[in-house]
Amino acid sequence: MKLTDHQQKMLDGAYGKGKAMAMQIQTGIGKCFDAPRLVPITRAHVSLSAQVGDVWFAGRLFEAGATCEVAPTVNPGYSLARFQDALTPDAIENMRNTHRIYQGLGARLTYSCTPYLADNVPAFGEIVAFSETSVTIYANSVLGARTNRESAASALCAAVTGFVPEYGMLLTENRFANVAVEVKANMRGDFSYAVLGLAGKRIGKGIPVFLGLPDSIGTESLMALGTELNVSGNYDLFHIPGVTADIRNDPESFQRHEPQRVVTITDQDLEEVLEEFSPGGFGEIHYCILGCPHYTYQQIETVRRLLGATPSKVPIHIMTSATIKAQAKGSGLEDALLDLGAELIADTCVDEACCWGYLAGKPGVTDSPKGAYYMGTSGIKMAVRDIETCIRWAQKGRVC
Ligand code: F3S
Repeated sequence: MKLTDHQQKMLDGAYGKGKAMAMQIQTGIGKCFDAPRLVPITRAHVSLSAQVGDVWFAGRLFEAGATCEVAPTVNPGYSLARFQDALTPDAIENMRNTHRIYQGLGARLTYSCTPYLADNVPAFGEIVAFSETSVTIYANSVLGARTNRESAASALCAAVTGFVPEYGMLLTENRFANVAVEVKANMRGDFSYAVLGLAGKRIGKGIPVFLGLPDSIGTESLMALGTELNVSGNYDLFHIPGVTADIRNDPESFQRHEPQRVVTITDQDLEEVLEEFSPGGFGEIHYCILGCPHYTYQQIETVRRLLGATPSKVPIHIMTSATIKAQAKGSGLEDALLDLGAELIADTCVDEACCWGYLAGKPGVTDSPKGAYYMGTSGIKMAVRDIETCIRWAQKGRVC
């Protein structure tokens, strides 16, 4: 790999041990992928998980004196204020360490998994280093930024060095669709897009172009599609003619690159996919968890509208960013929800057993397949249904 003088000096330790460590990792990744050079990034997002391995790695960079050239936004960990009664002393110490280390590295402590909505929004063509299931695919597909699917560690090293190896999604020739997905299903809202994303096993490997979808698709639906594609498979990018960035202005362009296969998805396929992922068998439910990925303001308003004047029988926990929680507080939405049994929780991920472990063995409901998948690994079993059903069940405290 050809390095500039500046990059070589960084690798040789002229800017300190921490930057040299990060540069070793970036050049190592570049060699694995036969990247010819490193290119500068303008943004980064680190999917910190506040788990022990993640904190250990970030801590090593910090102790070696690294600071970020490009201040990254970061994923949620868990709110110490909200979960103070549930957390063990070790878990409290771990989150405090996470905060201290990432602050020392110069990160922006946004603790949100939807940076592409407000905190860290790349423009078309920007080269960035984004990690996190929903973040990378949204940035590539909807915004037309260029990023590989970084890990938390490689995104952090990119932020520290300011560079990424040039390969994969950074190159135009790798961004063409090679699977045509003809959707012959009635797409009835965000949840339909989540279930379409869950059909990854039927779609198979590659870069899908979805045909037959409406001309206009909302942000939340696009978030759901990208997120769940990466629950059912591994996807960097998807296209929708006239909607997603690479082919927004030239909707026919995907036809210039013949897809390797054509897959058709019908209503029956979507029903089967959901049934496979989340079979019935639920009776009583004890809670409803929403906001994986973190809910937008519009999604929170939808919960308020669906609740109407009937409070929930079981707690509704809604993960969102601190920015949106503050807006909801300011507008009175947060208090209105609290009166109806729904709370907004900032800075927190559903994949944190130290916060949610007490729910193990008690069934609940969510509108997020990703949330159900992760919480299922901690023994927390949730039915996955659309938001209307989630709220209806929550108001009854049972399947109805
Ligand atoms: Fe966000 Fe955690 Fe879900 S990072 S997408 S709330 S698993």
